[in-house]
Amino acid sequence: MRILVVGSGAREHAIAVSLAQDPEVTALACAPGNAGTAAVSEQFGLDVGDNDAVVAVARTWQADLVVIGPEAPLVSGAADAVRAAGIACFGPGAGAARIEGSKAFAKSVMSSAGVPTASSVVVDNPAHLDTALGVFTPPYVVKDDGLAAGKGVVVSDDVEVARAHALGLLDAGHPALLESFLDGPEASLFCLVDGTTVVPLLPAQDFKRVGDDDTGPNTGGMGAYCPLPWAGAGLADDLVERIVRPVATELDRRGVPFSGLLYAGLALTSQGPAVVEFNCRFGDPETQAVLALLRTPLARLLHATATGTLAEQPPPDWSDDSAVTVVVAAEGYPATPRLGDVITGADGDGVRHAGTRRREDGAVVSCGGRVLSVVGTGADLAAARADAYARLEPVRLAGSHHRTDIGLRAERGEVSMPVSLR
Ligand code: GLY
Repeated sequence: MRILVVGSGAREHAIAVSLAQDPEVTALACAPGNAGTAAVSEQFGLDVGDNDAVVAVARTWQADLVVIGPEAPLVSGAADAVRAAGIACFGPGAGAARIEGSKAFAKSVMSSAGVPTASSVVVDNPAHLDTALGVFTPPYVVKDDGLAAGKGVVVSDDVEVARAHALGLLDAGHPALLESFLDGPEASLFCLVDGTTVVPLLPAQDFKRVGDDDTGPNTGGMGAYCPLPWAGAGLADDLVERIVRPVATELDRRGVPFSGLLYAGLALTSQGPAVVEFNCRFGDPETQAVLALLRTPLARLLHATATGTLAEQPPPDWSDDSAVTVVVAAEGYPATPRLGDVITGADGDGVRHAGTRRREDGAVVSCGGRVLSVVGTGADLAAARADAYARLEPVRLAGSHHRTDIGLRAERGEVSMPVSLR
């Protein structure tokens, strides 16, 4: 099978690494890729926002399957365009990708499906902002209603911080979504979905704040671990039945069946699980940890999803190990990342490149805020953490920063399932 992976993040590098090890994959390409994917696949320049260009690369290279990693091309219909060209595609069409592209659409689907989520108000006029804020109590949650790569979210006890963020969004012409705060540990559940067939992958947890102890602004994600040692073995199946299957069924009922990876970002609250957000693609950085534990050949699962034959596949097979991934970010990330710094020591096993490119003189340099992530595995979470941080040791990037506490609270037994889910 000839597989083209579209995207340039550590998620795409992790997907490419898994596919490169898969005997069913006869040729692998990434577009546009990064300095890491170039080591495992052919590489093509591509503007991922140009659907015609995505189709042209897939056609010219004679791809049997196109895997679209990032949300923006999915929301703008790249998967529809690839399928219209007669090529199998892993990723939802624009209609179903609205589950991520419009939070208002996602709320409407969840309401119809009877799926619990935070209560919310969309504000599109600054004159209505104070009345809307008055409906909520601290901590205030303010989100960009559209795509914002995780950075459009502010959670604050200070109503002035919430108001300023909402006004900033409105000034930029983006509606602001105000939400009630959901307490409890968060979990990311990735599911392969083909219409109404739903196959969960291992639950993971990611860390969105930039600093240790969940301090500082929200980011696209600074690290992740899986599985969740504090969760019961039945958690994924329980969440599928309560949350993901009803949403997949509702999308199907609305005539926009989902095909690809449906990512439920969840809060496991004292009242039961509730949805923080849905995403229409593999999450980053969780994918780097989840795929490190997958034993089933990835191409088979992605191809079955893309061709509507997922129900014929046996359940995925997993290693009993744990995995941890730690993101290395550029100086100034998330506000103003500095680009163009030389990176060394980033060719070890377990390093997944994101914002990297090879300069003409051969040096690998940074070209994005999240520069790379390092994956470690081990028999338990403590061993996986130790492995990840040991693999990070040789990486050198001036001014870079990373969190030192990915998975630490779980390792110490400080995270627990709420009684409602035990
Ligand atoms: N881990 C957050 C995201 O992928 O959106």
